Amino acid sequence: MNEYRPLKVALLGAGSVGSQVARLLIENQAELAARVGARLDLIGIAVRDTKRVRESVPQELITEDAESLILAADIVVEVMGGIEPARSYILQALNSGSDVVTANKALLATHGTELFDTAEQVGAQLYFEAAVAGAIPIIRPLRESLAGDTVNRVMGIVNGSTNYILDRMDTAGLTLEQAMDEATKLGYLEADPSLDVEGFDAAQKAAILAYLAFHTEVPLESVYREGITKITAEQMKNAKRDGTVIKLLAICERIAADEAGPEGVSVRVYPAQIPATHPLASVRGAFNAVYVEAESAGQLMFYGAGAGGVQTASAVLGDLVSAAKRHVAGGPGLADSVHANLPVLSIDRVTTSYQITLEVKDQPGVLAQIANVFSQHQVSIETVEQFAAEGRNTTTLEIETHDATDASLSSVVKELAATDSVARVTSVIRVEGY
Ligand code: NDP
Ligand code: HSE
Repeated sequence: MNEYRPLKVALLGAGSVGSQVARLLIENQAELAARVGARLDLIGIAVRDTKRVRESVPQELITEDAESLILAADIVVEVMGGIEPARSYILQALNSGSDVVTANKALLATHGTELFDTAEQVGAQLYFEAAVAGAIPIIRPLRESLAGDTVNRVMGIVNGSTNYILDRMDTAGLTLEQAMDEATKLGYLEADPSLDVEGFDAAQKAAILAYLAFHTEVPLESVYREGITKITAEQMKNAKRDGTVIKLLAICERIAADEAGPEGVSVRVYPAQIPATHPLASVRGAFNAVYVEAESAGQLMFYGAGAGGVQTASAVLGDLVSAAKRHVAGGPGLADSVHANLPVLSIDRVTTSYQITLEVKDQPGVLAQIANVFSQHQVSIETVEQFAAEGRNTTTLEIETHDATDASLSSVVKELAATDSVARVTSVIRVEGY
């Protein structure tokens, strides 16, 4: 085969991910050229601080002039993160005909439509395998491998740092604060930890997954989000006693039309109890996993490192090889279709079950009063357990419901809190995965 002309690659960012992309591109140049049919020449690396010497990044390639670098490139790799100037640089690259590889979930979740539309208009391609779950191949399976199937549900652990925190609370009995301290020392949390612990990072990834799974635009604001900051050591201990574990889940689900409204999709992030036997329960430490349910393919599980410089660089390099091959072979880009354009439904339409723990007065008639609150909101109780507290005039009730709409369940919780015989609503947590 005749070798194609060398392809010029511009790298924007030389941090955790970018420095590893640079190293792998240089170290594996011959092998990558053989796979692509063209040499991949790294022509420059744009950073903010050009003075700082970075391990495994040739200083002579460092520049602060990202715009000139983009103009000279065939393929642009954006691993700088943030919204601006990343957005403008990607638009500049696409508009000048370059394919772009990005790992930037925050940008895709907020400006994805603009970027994908631009790519389609100019016949360029935007690759983003690294944007969700780091090294795990999940974008390509949803975008290509399952393109002939109907995906009904995607449920994932897509934030490694919160999974680490919850795992340490579960296995070592740490408090949330202790586990967060550990995660901080290990460098797992984002510079702004609220992006992780309040579920923002997972919500961005959920929006991207739902967009691909359901061929539907998913504005980030429509993703329901609860973080892990209210999870207590007590809840963790009780979950374990019940044969379950608490995980921060990103759930993207197709919801059929019913009397409450039309067909749509629900995209949500919250901590939930899942059975210890569920495949996602065994995802430990900072690992990620995505569980997909498709009509024909059935259940699929994707597991691996959701972050880390070199791990994420693997996904970036995979996209870069695809982009380079397209250059060599020619042909149009792969456009994602949002033809389904399903409405993104509010959390109220979601059907799930709750586990509610109450401290109640230990006296006759209390159980009946509480059961009445559930029945008034058409919520059926599945199990009730009572744990007596010695020497106190209250007792603890742990109630698990059957599936009901989230709207009904939250009305039950509100009314229970205002019920005389209820001293305290100790814990409310959703239950998933049964
Ligand atoms: P870092 O913060 O480690 O690195 C960012 C790099 O971009 C730095 O080299 C920085 O320059 C450069 N940069 C930032 N702003 C500018 C700017 N305005 N102009 C020029 N250069 C700039 O980020 P990561 O490598 O961790 O992440 C990169 C992307 O990958 C993000 O979108 C992130 O969400 C995504 N990602 C990261 C993962 C991870 O494990 N780290 C996992 C999955 C995705 P300087 O060195 O001078 O500061
Ligand atoms: N903060 C993210 C996480 C990094 O903890 O998973 C990878 O996107």
